[in-house]
Amino acid sequence: MIFEFGSGYGHSAFWYFLHQNSISKVYLTERRDDLLKFYNEVPFPNEWRNKIHYHQGDAFELLEQTSGFDFVLIDGQKNSYTDFLKAVLPKMKPQGLIAVDNAFWKGAVIGEGETSATSAEAILEHHKVIKQVARDNSYRLNYFPFRDGLLLLEV
Ligand SMILES: C[S@@+](CC[C@H](N)C(=O)[O-])C[C@H]1O[C@@H](n2cnc3c(N)ncnc32)[C@H](O)[C@@H]1O
Repeated sequence: MIFEFGSGYGHSAFWYFLHQNSISKVYLTERRDDLLKFYNEVPFPNEWRNKIHYHQGDAFELLEQTSGFDFVLIDGQKNSYTDFLKAVLPKMKPQGLIAVDNAFWKGAVIGEGETSATSAEAILEHHKVIKQVARDNSYRLNYFPFRDGLLLLEV
């Protein structure tokens, strides 16, 4: 089971299904209501679409009603990354994986990037929290410094 915080048109779902026939459910979340029509036009095969639940609304809202995730992608608003991480951790299956996209966003991770001060602060805070979570629970935290950066937390 997959949960995505911030889905836009839902393009990322393509990658989930590409090599993975054993997916039971994919929860996509997008709070912008103008993107649903684009999601509906993405030519996903019916077999895939039947497994996707596209929630047009706040990701936190849907998270409250769901659990048991194998994989989570955090790709929504930067200053909600940490709150989302804390909320999703108890809902992960053992040996699940949490991916945090744009974790080095425009240099925000060193506090000297081209991003806004608020986003830079939020990303720095997120790094502190995720590192602490990894240490406290002996979870492996992987850093992928490619483009805007990706973190992978193995729970
Ligand atoms: C970078 S885009 C997502 C791209 C998508 N994951 C992909 O790879 O195709 C981030 C999206 O997160 C949405 N978003 C931000 N905060 C959100 C929230 N609390 N709940 C749902 N969607 C949110 C934004 O509206 C934006 O469209």
